[in-house]
Amino acid sequence: MHLPKTPGPIGIFDSGYGGLTIYGKIKEILPQYDFIYLGDNARSPYGSRSFDVVYEFTRQAVLRLFVEGCRLVILACNTASAKALRTIQQKDLPGWDPERRVLGIIRPTVESVDRLTQTKHIGILGTEGTVSSGSYTIEIHKLFPEISVASQACPMWVPIIENNEYSGGGADYFVKKYLDKILKEDALIDLLILGCTHYPLLINKIKEYIPERVKLLFQGEYVAESLADYLKRHPEMDEKCTKNSNTRFYTSESPDKFAEMTSIFLKEQVKAEHINMDIYNF
Ligand code: DGL
Repeated sequence: MHLPKTPGPIGIFDSGYGGLTIYGKIKEILPQYDFIYLGDNARSPYGSRSFDVVYEFTRQAVLRLFVEGCRLVILACNTASAKALRTIQQKDLPGWDPERRVLGIIRPTVESVDRLTQTKHIGILGTEGTVSSGSYTIEIHKLFPEISVASQACPMWVPIIENNEYSGGGADYFVKKYLDKILKEDALIDLLILGCTHYPLLINKIKEYIPERVKLLFQGEYVAESLADYLKRHPEMDEKCTKNSNTRFYTSESPDKFAEMTSIFLKEQVKAEHINMDIYNF
């Protein structure tokens, strides 16, 4: 497999549209960089899939982005970060090209949580895959062992959002259900991490069902700042990232549908191209 050695865009991968909420924040603070956004819409959602399937799909996507010329790829998907990041970094990257990098979004999201909670009790909301992996709890406890962490899987939230029902009356039941559960499990929670890139779209509904003392953490700005910091600390990688302010959007599903959905997730409609995810037919 030929991986170009010339500088290239930063790759941003998500199972579908959710990563656009991360891309939007990255683009705000790093507007000069080139990006390729890849949404594996044909195979999303990843949230309830097994470890092996999420790993294999994510591995294919990362390789696809490398073949397109990316030297650095961000997994802008919590499920992929939770289930595939470590294995790709440790098992695949050394064989593909030890100079390329893949970064996830869980670590940058939790790096400063201690400053955001007074009670030191926080809650994680995510997909089944993210929650069952325990990745958030593990990362938080590496940095802040004193913080108590409760988690709640919200499997109905992604379908509600992807079907454009996130502001309609039908969403209330499932928004309330998962929030009630986690706040009942630990009444001292004063910070909820939205640990799924789709969830910022549900913000208005979520706010209706949490007490005022509970703050919400949106990961986009933390991930964007962490990437900017990474590029500063790694000039050798920064040199490999092209800077012409261009973004290409790829989807494994219909480009028209993708373009339509970007007006919801990105607040602007963009053009997308179809991409083949089958690495054996690149
Ligand atoms: N974007 C994914 C995440 O952040 C959730 C969507 C999915 O289930 O594929 O976990």
